[in-house]
Amino acid sequence: MTINLDQVRSDTPACSNLIHFNNAGSALQPRAVTEAVLQHLLLEQRIGGYEAADMHSALADNFYHAFATLLNCAPREIAFAENCTRAWTQLLLSVPFEAGDRIVTGQSEYASNYLSLLHLSRHKGVKIDVIPNNSEGLICLDSLESSLGNDVRLIALTHIASQSGVIQPAAAVGKLAQKHRILYLLDACQSAGQLHLDVNELGCDMLTGTGRKYLRGPRGTGFMYVRHSILDYLQPQSIDLQAADWLSRDHYALRDDARRFEVWEHFVAGKIGLAVAADYALHTGLQQIESTVSRLAATLREALCTIPGISVHERGARLSGIVTFSSALHPAHSIQAHLRHHHINTSVVRRQNTLLDFPERKLGDINRASVHYYNTDTEIDAFCAALNKL
Ligand SMILES: Cc1ncc(COP(=O)(O)O)c(C=O)c1O
Repeated sequence: MTINLDQVRSDTPACSNLIHFNNAGSALQPRAVTEAVLQHLLLEQRIGGYEAADMHSALADNFYHAFATLLNCAPREIAFAENCTRAWTQLLLSVPFEAGDRIVTGQSEYASNYLSLLHLSRHKGVKIDVIPNNSEGLICLDSLESSLGNDVRLIALTHIASQSGVIQPAAAVGKLAQKHRILYLLDACQSAGQLHLDVNELGCDMLTGTGRKYLRGPRGTGFMYVRHSILDYLQPQSIDLQAADWLSRDHYALRDDARRFEVWEHFVAGKIGLAVAADYALHTGLQQIESTVSRLAATLREALCTIPGISVHERGARLSGIVTFSSALHPAHSIQAHLRHHHINTSVVRRQNTLLDFPERKLGDINRASVHYYNTDTEIDAFCAALNKL
């Protein structure tokens, strides 16, 4: 089954007036997602927020079922969050660390995740081990395995970095985590909605993601997966009426599912919209999305390599829709502004946010063009034509 390009483009109103190569930033929503959010907001306007939530409770509940199907887990292992960073940090801080424990992570870790690790290290005395990438930008599995000892409490890996299209060998890391019985937290912020994900194949205990990127959901939404068997090992840092029942003056009971990591007050319209986005991705087919995105990105990389002065930075055999490049002649921000002038959306990756990685690769700020399955070869031609005009 191939993706019906005409259909997905006509479901995506913005496709008719711009070229959106900023899907790793925030992808274009299908009409159905925006409409679901708007309908709920209008219902809130008409009948009141709590009453609207009651009336649309089945739509909001669909969030858990849609993500359980997307990740191949049980609905009770899914929780809603306002973004990926909140979900990731909630889970990190719930691990019962003791001073001297080690956290093992990769060189492509997301900036905010690494900042949280530094913060934890400063306040809890945990140590951080950064496993180097090999020449293809992949985490070195031999170094990872040799660093795993009894003092390692957590492996934290970013599946696809925001600064590089390299897809990390998340399932191989999962095998090592299981072999050494170490908790494994996977940041799937850029891979959810882009790759076929199965938490059992990945071998992760916890996984986090956001709504607005490859899943094409609303901004201000995210999700997490928590393997049911580790639920009681984790200690949520803060709880409220959503997370627990108040039983008596001195007693409370945490919920028996991943929703103990949620908060009661949340963006209901966004949760409904995110469920619609997950269903839209499932209906489109994750395998089809993955192969279409990978083919378009390969075409884009090839085309970029023919433009004088441009270098493409991805290395490796398995690459995602994120294409990073820079020009020997023009700074990254001028290129982004020039493309925007031609109605082409891209973004810039700042060296300042990639300090584990870019200094070693001798990179400054670079450009990022990230494609999705609704992009086309014609758009890639137009993108290259615009770059050639610089
Ligand atoms: C790999 C990765 N992890 C985490 C995040 C943070 O996601 P959010 O902005 O939803 O918190 C991003 C955002 O760009 C990302 O690329």
